[in-house]
Amino acid sequence: MQSLDLPLSSDSPERDSLVQGCDGGPSAAGCHAAEMTTTPVRYGIIGTGMMGGEHALNLAEIPDADVVALADPVESSLAWGTACVGHPVATYLDHRDLLARDDLDAVLIASPNFTHSSLLADVFETDLAVMVEKPMCTTVDECVEVRRRALDRDALTWVGLEYRFMPTVSVLLDELATGVCGTTRMVSISEHRFPFLVKVGNWNRFNVNTGGTLVEKCCHFFDLMRLAANANPTRVYASGGHDVNHLDEVYDGRVPDILDNAFVVVDFDNGVRGALELSMFAEGGRYEQQITVVGDRAKLETTVPGDEVFIGVRDGSGPVSVSARMSPAVTYAGFHHGSSFLEHVRFIACLRSGAPAEVTVDDGLWSVAMGAAAHRSIDEGRVVHLAEYDLPV
Ligand SMILES: NC(=O)c1ccc[n+]([C@@H]2O[C@H](COP(=O)([O-])OP(=O)(O)OC[C@H]3O[C@@H](n4cnc5c(N)ncnc54)[C@H](O)[C@@H]3O)[C@@H](O)[C@H]2O)c1
Repeated sequence: MQSLDLPLSSDSPERDSLVQGCDGGPSAAGCHAAEMTTTPVRYGIIGTGMMGGEHALNLAEIPDADVVALADPVESSLAWGTACVGHPVATYLDHRDLLARDDLDAVLIASPNFTHSSLLADVFETDLAVMVEKPMCTTVDECVEVRRRALDRDALTWVGLEYRFMPTVSVLLDELATGVCGTTRMVSISEHRFPFLVKVGNWNRFNVNTGGTLVEKCCHFFDLMRLAANANPTRVYASGGHDVNHLDEVYDGRVPDILDNAFVVVDFDNGVRGALELSMFAEGGRYEQQITVVGDRAKLETTVPGDEVFIGVRDGSGPVSVSARMSPAVTYAGFHHGSSFLEHVRFIACLRSGAPAEVTVDDGLWSVAMGAAAHRSIDEGRVVHLAEYDLPV
């Protein structure tokens, strides 16, 4: 079994702990060699399009994982998923046949957003651990119900918000936790990227299927904002629209309703202010994401992609660079700079040890609620208070 004992970027024990946990060695999650079984964790994957295949490619690089079954109603997706797994695997057109197997430890849901709620309901009838891709669901109400049911069971429920495991992001969060910034005051995230890709059946062309761009795409950034602010949001104001992309596409007589640019301002309950800037017609730039956290003592800044975090203390000494390179222990970088690999390493560590999920159903709920509030703000032209949603958190 490969060693996963390398830090992401420095010698800090916090970073060491992120990559430990599935090598038989001690981990922060309490995973001890004596407790390890010799059988890898057996996964079933539900939904084997782009992201299901990406998960399979990651899992193929993790010795303590084995994908044994796939489910997808589209044959060509099953063929793609099988190719990504890299060895013969059982395939099903109906996920219920996969769930009926008696040899699974965990399922991964990587189907379109609008299917997550009902698929999770079926998984919750079993005792299997589950990782569900982001967004947890397309609406706040669905997330509230999923959270209620997930908290009612013993098995692990993990939401696939993997950005926190990206090298530059995790180093930024570690540095923030040292207190170097003093009291955090502002968190700003900008995403400038390419338009939405084509998906199987074009499901991502309509808000009813995705939850809306600020849910579908930006739940990642609202999750990071909450982590950096170390607080929950109270109100949201947003301006956005559908101005450039997909305007010449027609599906069954309908033009897509995808929002492709927005500014979102968020107030947090500890006084931190957050800002998100999204453009999905800006693929010509240098970075996809830029993340800045400003406290009363210093500013932290980083990018994705990137391999540095800059700390700028307010003493005139100029920014200091902290290395944030991907650990060589991450043997598959994939589409997300090694973060999907790390999320599975951590998921498996939690599954083995019985530790709670590191990315929780509360994280899933808040990140969707912030996106939904931003859409409501755009639609109704007003500030939206999160209290309007009567969230159980
Ligand atoms: N975490 C990330 O960074 C990230 C990146 C991309 C996509 N995603 C998420 O992954 C999920 C899948 O996105 P994608 O890009 O792979 O889309 P996709 O269209 O490429 O693949 C989705 C697959 O799900 C299948 N499917 C549809 N209904 C199903 C059902 N009821 N049961 C099983 N399979 C079903 C489709 O046939 C298709 O093969 C979405 O929730 C998306 O938001 C996450």
